[in-house]
Amino acid sequence: MITRIDHVGIACFDLDETIRLYKELYGFSVCHREINDSQGVDEAMLRINGTDDGKASYVQLLAATRPDSPIAKFLDKRGEGIHHIAFGCDDVEFEAQAMAGRGVTVWPFPQPASMGSRATFVHPKSSGGVLVELVTSKQEG
Ligand code: CO
Repeated sequence: MITRIDHVGIACFDLDETIRLYKELYGFSVCHREINDSQGVDEAMLRINGTDDGKASYVQLLAATRPDSPIAKFLDKRGEGIHHIAFGCDDVEFEAQAMAGRGVTVWPFPQPASMGSRATFVHPKSSGGVLVELVTSKQEG
């Protein structure tokens, strides 16, 4: 079951500068940083609320580590801005397989993602033009 917005993913050219902007504008602080080599992404998670039970909401800032990464291609084409919305769910494997069974274009095998979570993506062509991530936090199992 989908229970919340886990995070909004935002593509940016300069990660440190964008972290500074979100701190200044909204008071958000970085709670996690990670480089995902396979995705070519340098990312920062900024926690919006104070919960630490796997059900918090975040802004996920995403910068490219190499010019051929998906985020670099997105930035080339669209510039900075919202890249995806992540819905939190208690069982991402179940959700992904159920959606695939209904003909939705979704990768049915979630992969390791930020902060020990597992996540997969629903293709924008199946989701009204929006790239949607489905994520189950480490704490949720
Ligand atoms: Co994400």
